[in-house]
Amino acid sequence: MDLLPQLPLVDTFGRSHNNLRISVTDRCNIRCFYCMPAENVQFMDRVDLLTYEEIERFVRLTVPLGVNKLRLTGGEPLVRKDLAKLVAALSKIDGIEDIGLTTNGILLAEQAADLYAAGLRRLNVSLDALNAEKFKQITRREGYEKVLEGIEAAEKAGFQQIKINAVSLRGMTEDELVPFGHFARTTGHEVRFIEYMPLDADNAWEREKVLFAQEIIDIISAGIRPLVPVPNADPRAPAADYQFDDGIGRIGFIASISRPFCSQCNRFRITADGKLRNCLFSLEETDLRSLLRGEASDEVIQQAVRNSIHAKWEGHEINTARFIQPTRPMYSIGG
Ligand code: 5AD
Ligand code: SF4
Repeated sequence: MDLLPQLPLVDTFGRSHNNLRISVTDRCNIRCFYCMPAENVQFMDRVDLLTYEEIERFVRLTVPLGVNKLRLTGGEPLVRKDLAKLVAALSKIDGIEDIGLTTNGILLAEQAADLYAAGLRRLNVSLDALNAEKFKQITRREGYEKVLEGIEAAEKAGFQQIKINAVSLRGMTEDELVPFGHFARTTGHEVRFIEYMPLDADNAWEREKVLFAQEIIDIISAGIRPLVPVPNADPRAPAADYQFDDGIGRIGFIASISRPFCSQCNRFRITADGKLRNCLFSLEETDLRSLLRGEASDEVIQQAVRNSIHAKWEGHEINTARFIQPTRPMYSIGG
């Protein structure tokens, strides 16, 4: 393999990549239908998961390539033992400026204080419904109250940047929109609606099941008061941000289908079993685990990352006839 001088991770479309998303497990304690099969999930073997030491080494290697932002994901990351230890190790790495966690919140009440003490400051809690029955229908498990307790515990632990991620589903979550608007106004937490993407294990995604950002804006504006766009603090963040016209309550949209943001993408990911993916929707991945566990030098691993970024496509092709759904569903990629 040719060794090039250290260069930031710029792809052939000029996008630089500073944002690494790390999946720490494919296991989950609920079963959201847009992500996992209902039963009999084949999880990865534990020996196949990157160890915390391997993850830490990998992150250290990516810092000279320009990575300064991390997000821990799953599956459900809080089901992995001692996650706060990984957070503590990663937050000590020079050059890492920002660490976030995306969780379903079920185990958050128990872990929020430890995570905060370990240096975590940004939390995204996935919650698709404020109605307990609807929650159960979507996740096929109990746990709604635990998520609310988790959010409260996180507030008490000191987290100031809590965002709620809600997947929006046509025919299912329309009734949740206005309650979420009120929730954003009363709690001060930004609620972000995510358009349903074709990453479900059951291959049941259809365009007709996506509830689009503009419809959500119209429904919430009519039900509460007008939502107006606000400039995003980070122009490369995937969410388009809105607030109510009286300045109280923030709503964001991750409109992957109706307003793709691929041209701004600065993200890449590593799966729990150590495969590097340059896109959620990529059909190819790079086996980093075998490099990390073999004799590979730091330079060889860095070159493998550069090669993966170099091969990144312009964007997902969901809105074209060419689209092919990746064989890995969301829980095994990491959201
Ligand atoms: N489409 C959109 N969002 C999804 N998520 C999981 N699967 C999908 C999907 N098919 C969301 C989760 C979580 C985040 C990691 O991604 O609800 O908020
Ligand atoms: Fe679990 Fe997240 Fe998948 Fe829901 S979306 S089943 S919480 S991994």
